[in-house]
Amino acid sequence: MGSSAPVVVGVDGSAIALDAVRTAAREAASRRRPLRIVHAFIWPLMRVTVDPAPGAPAGAGLRNQAERYVAEAVTEAGRIAPEVAVTGAVVDGSPAPVLLAESRDASLLVLGSRGLGGFAGLLIGSATVQLSARAACPVLVVRGESRADGPVVVGVDGSELSTEAVGFAFDEAARRGVPLVAVHTWLYPAPLGPGDILPLVYDLEALAAEEERVLAESVAGFAAQYPDVPVQQRLMRGSPAGVLVEESKTAQLVVVGARGRGALAGLLLGSVSHAVLQHAHSPVAILHHGRTTVGS
Ligand SMILES: Nc1ncnc2c1ncn2[C@@H]1O[C@H](COP(=O)(O)OP(=O)(O)OP(=O)(O)O)[C@@H](O)[C@H]1O
Ligand SMILES: [Mg+2]
Repeated sequence: MGSSAPVVVGVDGSAIALDAVRTAAREAASRRRPLRIVHAFIWPLMRVTVDPAPGAPAGAGLRNQAERYVAEAVTEAGRIAPEVAVTGAVVDGSPAPVLLAESRDASLLVLGSRGLGGFAGLLIGSATVQLSARAACPVLVVRGESRADGPVVVGVDGSELSTEAVGFAFDEAARRGVPLVAVHTWLYPAPLGPGDILPLVYDLEALAAEEERVLAESVAGFAAQYPDVPVQQRLMRGSPAGVLVEESKTAQLVVVGARGRGALAGLLLGSVSHAVLQHAHSPVAILHHGRTTVGS
């Protein structure tokens, strides 16, 4: 992927999607990437009339409304980051497939946690759930107020994807000029793979030392690459989702891999990533295999 791969943001006319546009504009500026604003326009698929009714004022009709969602977002992005090249597009189709296709050429996909639809109690909208699991590039889910003073927090489990998450988190922390907190939790000895036989008696201190090593190794390579980012390694006992949600109360961003060490083959979103996506108090970034490009 070239260095021109844009930051893509999905808009649906909601206030939270406009928050996502502001975040996406800042990301595009600090990554030196163009910003592409996309509205998936579902009505032609439903065979609904999208043009103004006869005699209706110019500007009426669903297609004009869709164009206005995008135009409003383009204006807002220009206000936040005037130096960024911004384009907007209305693309016919449902949000998840349209943005999934966009993610193949994107360096980052930014979404609101919710949108216009859904019911009041819904924590995460369906487009965002699907794209968090399947996108071809990292997904940044925007929610709540954005806190500029907290650290970037990354969840580490020693898996390949968590290492990608650590790399992404270092890059975010470096561009945002804040510390990185790398969190690894463990509860009790867990099998690392099929056929792994656990001892009946074990030495807790030796295990803690082993978990410490998992955390240190995941961080080591990147720490050398980003010498200016202060890093705190936190080894904790507890459930990873619970600990990361707690950390998100003071973080400005929580970064996780889409799947972890314990994921079933074929599972797109692991239980920790899913719980963090649903319950975090801060924006959440979710990493997918092999497609992380950071910086410019
Ligand atoms: N039509 C769309 N075009 C582009 N992006 C969209 C569209 N709909 C949603 N999005 C993106 O996805 C985010 C979450 O919206 P989503 O549709 O998942 O939640 P919702 O509308 O609350 O619930 P529902 O699942 O009922 O639609 C939005 O903030 C926006 O970033
Ligand atoms: Mg929706």
